[in-house]
Amino acid sequence: MSDNISANNKFINFYGRTTGHLSKRSVYLLENLLSKYLLNIDNLKDNSFYKLAQQYEKVNLEIGFGSGDFLFNSVINNPNSLYLGVEVFSNGVATLLDKIDNYSKEEVLPNVLIYNANIYYLLDYFTENTFDNLYILFPDPWHKNKHHKRRLINEDNLTLFSKILKKDGVLRFVSDHADYVNWAIEHFEKSNNFKILNPDDFKITPADHFQTKYERKAIKEGREIAYLNIQNIK
Ligand SMILES: C[S@@+](CC[C@H](N)C(=O)[O-])C[C@H]1O[C@@H](n2cnc3c(N)ncnc32)[C@H](O)[C@@H]1O
Repeated sequence: MSDNISANNKFINFYGRTTGHLSKRSVYLLENLLSKYLLNIDNLKDNSFYKLAQQYEKVNLEIGFGSGDFLFNSVINNPNSLYLGVEVFSNGVATLLDKIDNYSKEEVLPNVLIYNANIYYLLDYFTENTFDNLYILFPDPWHKNKHHKRRLINEDNLTLFSKILKKDGVLRFVSDHADYVNWAIEHFEKSNNFKILNPDDFKITPADHFQTKYERKAIKEGREIAYLNIQNIK
């Protein structure tokens, strides 16, 4: 699939690689296991995603799951919740599939779906009030000022995130990049749809959190991490 498509009149660009070198095992997992977990836009159009979602107490979305550490641990610890993980980088998807395969052997984990492409293809297709939680963990900070508009947290995306989250649903934004944390706080405070639930204790790791690869790196390198929980007040 091309990384530049026009969906709902929106030009979608992904500013990075979507595949690195894939090991034989990764190719095997992507060719044989991914199809068992794959979500595509048709599953939103024909309602099959929503029929599945109704069977679960909570429906959660993680954007940019990377190696899938948080997603995998959340899935196996919360069997009554459905998780949709979105990751554009195929090596990350293969790493998640490897964890799933080692854990479940022949069984298919019922409460996880994977979308292996840019989230922007999907966002417009979700109906309102779909998700209880939205996780954005260590998103790419896009250091340069001229690239800040590429950040996942921006005014337009907050409008879309608010729409697809249920009222009082929670967006969790975690980052070790001080400038992005300040940028995110400013955007959440400016938005009429969101309220930061933990403005004074966002340095405390939430009880239901699972460490990610980027988080381990940040801790090893001594960077402070912000765990913001933001309520969708609509
Ligand atoms: C800095 S990494 C963090 C990965 C993981 N969350 C962690 O904490 O280890 C950001 C990830 O988001 C993915 N990503 C960035 N923009 C995305 C988009 N628009 N749609 C889907 N995935 C995206 C990247 O491919 C990358 O794997």
